[in-house]
Amino acid sequence: MAERGIQSVLVENRVFEPNARFRDAVGAAHIPDLATYKAMYQRSLSDPEGFWGDVASDFTWFSPWKRVLEWSCPDAQWFVGATTNICFNCIDRQIDGGHGDDIAIIWEGEPANSSQPHGFEVRRITYRELHGEVCRCAHALRALGVSRGDIVTLYMGMVPELAIAMLACARIGAAHSVIFGGFAAPAIVDRVHDAASRVIVTCDGAFRRGAVVGLKGNVDEACKSLPEVQHVLVVRRTNTPVSWSEGRDVWWHDLVAAQQSSCPCEAMDSEDLLFLLYTSGSTGKPKGIRHTIGGYMVFTAATARWTFNLQPDRGQVFFCTADIGWVTGHSYVIYGILPNRVPTLMYEGAPNFPSESRLWSMVERHKVTQFYTAPTAIRAFMKWGDEHPKGHDLSSLILLGTVGEPINPEAWIWYHETIGASRCPIVDTMWQTETGGHIITPLPAAIATVPGSCTVPMFGVDAAIVDEQGEEQPPNVGGLLVIRQPWPGMLRGIHGDRERYVETYWSKVPGMYVAGDGARRDERGYFWIMGRIDDVINVSGHRLGTMEVESALVSHESVVEAAVVGMPHEIKGTGITAFVTLGPGWQDKAGKALARQLQEHVGREIGAIAKPDVIRFTQALPKTRSGKIMRRLLRDIAAGKDSGQDTTTLEDLSVVAKLRESDE
Ligand code: WT7
Repeated sequence: MAERGIQSVLVENRVFEPNARFRDAVGAAHIPDLATYKAMYQRSLSDPEGFWGDVASDFTWFSPWKRVLEWSCPDAQWFVGATTNICFNCIDRQIDGGHGDDIAIIWEGEPANSSQPHGFEVRRITYRELHGEVCRCAHALRALGVSRGDIVTLYMGMVPELAIAMLACARIGAAHSVIFGGFAAPAIVDRVHDAASRVIVTCDGAFRRGAVVGLKGNVDEACKSLPEVQHVLVVRRTNTPVSWSEGRDVWWHDLVAAQQSSCPCEAMDSEDLLFLLYTSGSTGKPKGIRHTIGGYMVFTAATARWTFNLQPDRGQVFFCTADIGWVTGHSYVIYGILPNRVPTLMYEGAPNFPSESRLWSMVERHKVTQFYTAPTAIRAFMKWGDEHPKGHDLSSLILLGTVGEPINPEAWIWYHETIGASRCPIVDTMWQTETGGHIITPLPAAIATVPGSCTVPMFGVDAAIVDEQGEEQPPNVGGLLVIRQPWPGMLRGIHGDRERYVETYWSKVPGMYVAGDGARRDERGYFWIMGRIDDVINVSGHRLGTMEVESALVSHESVVEAAVVGMPHEIKGTGITAFVTLGPGWQDKAGKALARQLQEHVGREIGAIAKPDVIRFTQALPKTRSGKIMRRLLRDIAAGKDSGQDTTTLEDLSVVAKLRESDE
């Protein structure tokens, strides 16, 4: 990854200026030019309280803040003492403004459905309808014993009920913890346990690429180790048979439908917990990132408005392809979009079902104006062939976005030309689960773009490249990406682990938030992300801890030791190579069949996204004299720099290790 970043700096100097056609398409852009960006950025750093106080006054607060910011590093409080409700700002506020019949969510199901006008099931949900559904769900959750301050786990597919359940939690002051539907039962156990959830909302199943993923079955499996779970609320989506635990399990259509359609919003403190979202770190245990209501609400909605230039009443339709199980879906399918009163398009399934044209057909049919996806998806689109986008009318598009990992210039240019008809600005948005929203990104009418660079910091984000002493690095010298001042969307901690919060983010460079990425700034001041500096790998834009995968591997009876590293992968950006040593009696089983078993095993322990692409069996893991695994050597071997080809037979790495020991 690092090498790719450096190379980009050297070879990539095409500059794409903000263009008049985009400005025409949006009328008046929120940030119309570079001078406006600079003036606003300047003010956001020199007077953060004035700046964010102004931005926040666009929202509905039930009682005002006493101070905009209280900062005692590493603890930030935003809009101190104010009360509000994010659900109110997403829904009720639009109804009160006379827009109850505007479309809040356009949802499209995956299966082909010939009884529907365009061959697919589509729901258009107005703010008023959403209000009714959310209120009924809020009452239902209360009926199951959920109250203010509880944490409800949501393990669902991309169905409207997921958005409804999140908003219903927020409405009654419960926090949610969404678990991506691709995670397996053991991953559910860890997260539910850590959050101490007593209620789980799930679906019978989820449609994925024409098949059904048995979500309820995974919850049942997890609940065997979760005696604390009292109720499971189940949405019927796939109509697949499920086993039923009387007294514990409740059907959504029985309970929710029977409730009243109005339910007042709880007045919540700005710093009350809105959600936990688990993400991978350097250790085997995923961390529950804590986001609180006021700051997150203001930051996600404002960044969505600025970065994507969202404007109501101009026919815009915003389409973010991320699953709500990841932070991108939280912030830019739901919370950042609804307050802006632009319809958010939510898609249930896979981008290549029933064909590789699916997303382009959706752009055409729903007249999508802003389209937001990940580089890994763009590389897949390229591979699938230009005929798919070319076969659809994409002229509604005005802006394209990307997120999740550095985008290689080839993919950027293809996206620009083939999807954006060389007309749409591309916003390469850099951010993290921890940051709540965009921290470095172009603003479409103000910032010239260079393929591969995420360009400039967001308002209020004092991003810099420093060395370990906190000294700012000169142009084009790599260092740590840090943020030197608090911003409203920042995490407020790791659930139940204060020490890890301080240690992970605030102790490498005292007084600064360390993002965990290596990066550099070029002579224009543009940021280039070079990749993670910790034991986290970014697979298809999803974060995985190498330790998590290693623990999953060693939990298999055949494995004694495992070391997992990233390797370059054409589509995923980074793929996973696992070096594995086998226990007594297993050595002669080294080979394809066992490799497949281990891949499946990791899939069952964590989820399909964590399955190693390559398993290599070795006599012993190469270690330094002091006993540290030589990861750099393993990365080179995985990348094919040393021994070349992938192998599933037993190999002896001790010779290469000896040759390399001096430089590890
Ligand atoms: C890590 C965060 C935030 C949404 C998705 C991922 C990498 C993210 C970019 C980008 C280069 C990027 C970083 C970051 N990353 N966006 N535009 N350019 N790298 O969230 O799972 O919390 O992962 O993704 O390495 O630290 P996440």
